[in-house]
Amino acid sequence: DLPARVRIHEVGARDGLQNEKATVPTEVKAEFIRRLADAGLTTIEATSFVHPRWVPQLADAEQLFPQVADLPVTLPVLVPNERGLERALALGARHVAVFASATESFAKANLNRTVDESLAMFEPVVHRAKDAGSAVRGYVSMCFGDPWEGPVPVHQVVRVCKALRDMGCDELSLGDTIGVATPGHVQSLLAELNEEGVPTSALAVHFHDTYGQALSNTLAALQHGVATVDASAGGLGGCPYAKSATGNLATEDLVWMLQGLGIDTGVDLGRLTATSVWMAGRLGRPSPSRTVKALGKT
Ligand code: HMG
Ligand code: MG
Repeated sequence: DLPARVRIHEVGARDGLQNEKATVPTEVKAEFIRRLADAGLTTIEATSFVHPRWVPQLADAEQLFPQVADLPVTLPVLVPNERGLERALALGARHVAVFASATESFAKANLNRTVDESLAMFEPVVHRAKDAGSAVRGYVSMCFGDPWEGPVPVHQVVRVCKALRDMGCDELSLGDTIGVATPGHVQSLLAELNEEGVPTSALAVHFHDTYGQALSNTLAALQHGVATVDASAGGLGGCPYAKSATGNLATEDLVWMLQGLGIDTGVDLGRLTATSVWMAGRLGRPSPSRTVKALGKT
């Protein structure tokens, strides 16, 4: 059975932009987020409070967040450690996300830690965030394949998911960082998580579209009961610390499929497409999304 309603967790302003080489002006990011909210998205990941040297594109988090904080939407932000959490809480952020890895190679590349060291780094972050009244999402990267290690065993992913749940993460987002997942693999991971006591209601999926499988994988997850899906307007995205990571599932492609399935998202596809066409103009290249191409005539 498919869910009656799907919540889209829009990551364009964070995952979408973090890999852009040319600095996007803060005002353009703020305008992007405002337009996304105007198109009906209700969860819009705004930025990351990471080390500015690690992700220079998001070094303006302190300037950006206050420009969008009064929008009537949820604005999650990424925080890798207590320093990041303090920066986010100081600006009034009420939804934060830590980001773990299922593989050692990516934990090292992305966080300069082993998997267990990064989990130890997140534990006080999650506790302090919850004490401050914040909701906490736990990302798990490389849930299917890893550019250095190849296919990732399901039990490795389950271990990290359970650790994040035990810490108190409200929601887990299963990341296919490099876009190699296929629907059968998605079904096995979800089934194994359920068997290990992680409820589907606490799960979100986060697909990248490298091999054109993001939508098929999403459908497999919906059939399993997952009702929160991460997507990036216009299919922007990638991860600076994962070679071969390309754009995320495009929000427009997702909305098109969901509309066809009669699943409500609250998103106005016309406004969303117009936003991605506008953003593509700012970035100087067309959106890779098929739906944006079809509807936006770019
Ligand atoms: P490190 O070099 O080990 O840092 O990096 P450290 O803990 O040793 O601290 C070194 C210095 O950095 C200190 O300053 C800290 O204060 C400072 P010093 O005392 O030397 O002057 N520092 C900070 N400054 C500002 N904000 C902070 C912060 N933390 C430390 N938050 C660290 C460790 C975690 C900081 C680094 O590895 C980092 O920032 N990584 C972020 C990488 C990132 O953002 N990647 C992209 C997001 S993940 C993703 O895209 C995947 C996802 O989309 C899902 C999927 O697709 O799989 C979510
Ligand atoms: Mg991602």
